[in-house]
Order: sequence, then C-alpha cells, then structure tokens
Amino acid sequence: MRATITAIAHSVPPTVYDNHWFAERIDTTDEWIRTRTGIIERHFATEGGVTDILLPAAEAALKQRGITPLDVDCIIVATVTPDRIFPASAAILQHKLGATNAWGFDLAAACSGFLYSLITASKLVESGAVRNVLLCSGDKMSAILDFDDRATSVLFGDGGGCVLIEPSADDNLGIMDFILRMDGAGEVHLHQKAGGSLRPPSLETVTNREHYVYQEGQAVFKAAVKGMADVSYEIMERNHLTADDVAWLIPHQANLRIIDATAERMGLSKEKVMVNIDRYGNTTAGTIPICLSELYQQRKIKKGDYLVLSSFGAGYTWGSILLRWSMEDAPMEEVS
Ligand code: ACO
Repeated sequence: MRATITAIAHSVPPTVYDNHWFAERIDTTDEWIRTRTGIIERHFATEGGVTDILLPAAEAALKQRGITPLDVDCIIVATVTPDRIFPASAAILQHKLGATNAWGFDLAAACSGFLYSLITASKLVESGAVRNVLLCSGDKMSAILDFDDRATSVLFGDGGGCVLIEPSADDNLGIMDFILRMDGAGEVHLHQKAGGSLRPPSLETVTNREHYVYQEGQAVFKAAVKGMADVSYEIMERNHLTADDVAWLIPHQANLRIIDATAERMGLSKEKVMVNIDRYGNTTAGTIPICLSELYQQRKIKKGDYLVLSSFGAGYTWGSILLRWSMEDAPMEEVS
C-alpha cells in the first residue's frame, strides 16, 4: 500500500507586516531584507497559539475531503512553537476540532517538520495501523522572535498548512521516495537557548533574552545550500528522473538564494520552482504545506506530476521527498 495526500489547505494570520515596518523600528532596510533573503512581507498573529493558526486549515482540509473530525484516526502537529510545552498541540487541536476518535502527537524537526511528519504519517497509513492522519504543520515564529534583533526578526513569519494522508487508490501515485537526514552538530548554530529542561525559564534567562531564536546565519546558510541541494539532486538521480520529468520543486522558504542554489543543482528552470517567501517569510514547519496548498488552489499541479519537496533547518534536519500528485484539480470554488 502507498500513502498519498488526499486533501490540503493552509492558513496564515490576517495581519501583514512589510519590511518597512521593521525599518521604522530597527537598524535595517527594505533593500537589505529583499536582496539578502527575498522577503517583502510576512504575517504575524496578534493573538492565540499555533493551534489557532492551524485550526482553520484543518477544518478546510476535512471539508475538502468530505469527512468530519470524528473520522480522523490520528493527528500529527509538526511545530517548534507549540501552544505549550505540554500537553501536545496535537491534543489541543484535537479538542478544538472535536476529533474525539483521534490519537496523536507533536513532532519537532523545525523547518523539516513537514517532511519528517509526512513520512511518519505515510508509514502509519501504509502499515494499516491507521486509516488516515491529519498532518498539521506550522509555526507561530513571532512567539520566539527578538524584535530588537535585526539578524533574525526579519526572517520569519507565522502560518501553516494541513494535509490528510490516506492510502492511495493508485499504487503509481503518492509518496514515492524519501531521504531524511539529521546532524545534531548543527545545534550550536541554530537553537533557542532557554525554556527547555537544560535551561529552565528564570528571571536571568528572560533578562538575557534567551527565549528567542538564536542563529549564526552564515554557518546555517552554508550548510543549507549544500544539504538541500545534495538531497534534492540525489532523490532525482536515484529515481532516474531528469529535470524535464520534475513538474515542481517545492523548497523550504528560508532564503531565496538557498532556493536558487538548489534549483540550479537540479537543473530546474525558475518556472518549476515554487516561491512565496516574498509574501510569508520563513514560517518554519509551515512553508512547504503553504506552498503546496497554494499551487493546488491555483490549479498549477496536475494529477501524475512529480514533485520534489526539500527542506533544511534546525537540528540540523534536512531532506527531500519525491511525491507523485494524486489529487484532481481543485474545484473552481477553491481556486484563489
Ligand atoms: N538589516 C541590515 N543588515 C543586517 C541585517 C538586517 N536585517 N541582518 C544582518 N545584517 C548585517 C550584519 O550585521 C552584517 O554586517 P557586517 O558585515 O557589518 O558585520 C551583514 O549584514 C552581513 O550579515 P550576514 O549574516 O553575513 O548576512 P548573510 O548574507 O549571511 O544573510 C541570512 C543573513 C539572511 C540570515 C543568511 O545567512 C541565511 O539565510 N542563513 C540561513 C537561514 C536558514 O536557512 N535557516 C534555517 C531554517 S530556520 C529554522 O530552522 C528555525
């Protein structure tokens, strides 16, 4: 049995913050942010937690598939900004949705959260352990950003997407192959200093601003360019696909320069690369499902298309998934 995506939706908070908003507050410019990252604007939630961002997408995905929350067997929430450290945001979302028959858990793989949990979900489905998994992947990065730090605050946004994973009706369509990697040596370059069991919250950790994203941008940039390009190329090569065979690269949206380097390594033209970093920034676990959902809503992916999903993020974690799209075109009322 092969697993596949049978429904997809995304959601971002309504409030938009453009680069000028930052330029008015900290020592940065619209020009620096655009040219170094590709970001023009992003959405930040003004209230609620990550489950409030994901809930509308979860409801929309179930509606799209024509099932009710009671039909959901398992919920995975991929995030590094859970509502609380415990209980799992999957439990909180389950309650908000009314999916009382579902069990579930959270998965923390930062920007690779969607890829890691898509494979986890597909293996649960393929084994027959569950009939379906509602995979909700996203982050409320504004909760862990130091808005006085120009090196990190301008990079991120809030948002996420949800997919339903079920057995594929056609063995030639669905999740075909994956490469997932991890290197914990990357921790030193990208982490949140305090708030966990190693360094619990205290007056000192708050005063020292240790509850925010800490990133050594250049070190991560170098690792990301190599890591994401390597796995994206490798998954094409080992499946005997050429750039002509691939309909879309759907890359994690951290930096346009990382995306361009990955596409170049794969030999893909710009028209085959999904980019929306200009509108959302880096939503961490949210970027890939938001990209996929937008492509679906715009009717730009067709049944049978080969898609390569690729990511790189904290851990380090990175990887690529080869997916053969199995959904029919979005109904006209869902086209955006
Ligand atoms: N505005 C103006 N200047 C800035 C800003 C800013 N917002 N931020 C940094 N600068 C300055 C720096 O201080 C530095 O100045 P200096 O030369 O006087 O010292 C200069 O710009 C260059 O800084 P770099 O850090 O070298 O800039 P770089 O070109 O590397 O871009 C960036 C920084 C965008 C962070 C890039 O390194 C990057 O994208 N890194 C990878 C990010 C990533 O992929 N993260 C993984 C996912 S995130 C996750 O998993 C949670």
